[in-house]
Amino acid sequence: MSKQILILPGDGIGPEIVAEAVKVLEQANQQFGLGVELSYDELGGGAYDKYGVPLADETLERARQADAILLGAVGGPKWDTIDPALRPERGLLKIRSQLGLFGNLRPALLYPQLAAASSLKPEIVAGLDILIVRELTGGIYFGSPRENRVLENGERQAYDTLPYSESEIRRIAKVGFDMARVRSKKLCSVDKANVLASSQLWRTVVEEVAKDYPDVELSHMYVDNAAMQLVRAPKQFDVIVTDNMFGDILSDEASMLTGSIGMLPSASLDARNKGMYEPCHGSAPDIAGKGIANPLATILSVSMMLRYTFNQGAAADAIEQAVSVVLDQGLRTGDIWSEGCQKVGTREMGDAVVAALRNL
Ligand code: NAI
Ligand code: MG
Repeated sequence: MSKQILILPGDGIGPEIVAEAVKVLEQANQQFGLGVELSYDELGGGAYDKYGVPLADETLERARQADAILLGAVGGPKWDTIDPALRPERGLLKIRSQLGLFGNLRPALLYPQLAAASSLKPEIVAGLDILIVRELTGGIYFGSPRENRVLENGERQAYDTLPYSESEIRRIAKVGFDMARVRSKKLCSVDKANVLASSQLWRTVVEEVAKDYPDVELSHMYVDNAAMQLVRAPKQFDVIVTDNMFGDILSDEASMLTGSIGMLPSASLDARNKGMYEPCHGSAPDIAGKGIANPLATILSVSMMLRYTFNQGAAADAIEQAVSVVLDQGLRTGDIWSEGCQKVGTREMGDAVVAALRNL
């Protein structure tokens, strides 16, 4: 059966990095007989320009039909002044929630070739390989009521709501345990149960789910301590499971341990492992159109797609290996460049990965 993949290049550097990832996907398709079929559409600012909204209904329908989606990134200064409800980022939140993509996997892996690019000392980060499992469709980013208002005494007040239901916690906890089971069998659940009611339920439900995973060692940590431990001794973690906002912040923090945000892929999965794959970074307007963006996060997102949605572990491994070969060859885009390495552009980097894949 053919595999339908919807490509959403997006804005800024999106089209540049996605073009390279598609070349790698096509090479893997040939080499491993994957049977992928690609179609293209717009999300974000490009969609606003074309359809008047950041996510058109017909695009959402195409996304529903697809087995997997590859996204570049959305947003940019061109759309900063439009109606906030139509901003590119709204399209991204909408597609995640409409497709039920609640399970966000963000691996933070330090390639040994890039040890010099990390913000921490080599002895603290060498061999770092952690996975943050972030709940993506609930919590404070989606909770209601939310309001900006003026009180009777004339003072302005605003509030958000942080709701989590038992079923939302249970399904993301299961993702965390399942991931831990195939890795080092250690799961750390991060919450703020000393203060927040939603976190107290989170902890209770995670404990309940743990009964089905006696082989996984579960620990709990408050988010403020987790933020500290990530820079003090990050290798104590293997899999972290946490809510939407804590996961947003901790995964950005973890990204800096690996050298560059240009290296970090992500997967956003629904209950049947259909999903959307995208680099963790944004549309990088400061370098858009210059041909210098690092395409590796997007290429590694293709690898995650083959692994999680299509169960093609060998093809996924091969792409990761090809990336490693290219780093061994000393090729670096500007964001990961260091003395003695060869600086290359987006397209040269993509071509090098395709060649390395072909020659594996
Ligand atoms: P950003 O991630 O786009 O850029 C931050 C810094 O990292 C910039 O200096 C950029 O040049 C650099 N950078 C990012 N990706 C890179 C790559 N592949 N290679 C080399 N350098 C790279 O974050 P920023 O500047 O805060 O946001 C820019 C726009 O992107 C905004 O409109 C924001 O809303 C949007 N955004 C979109 C996301 C998405 O589509 N998932 C996620 C984050 C931001
Ligand atoms: Mg973020």
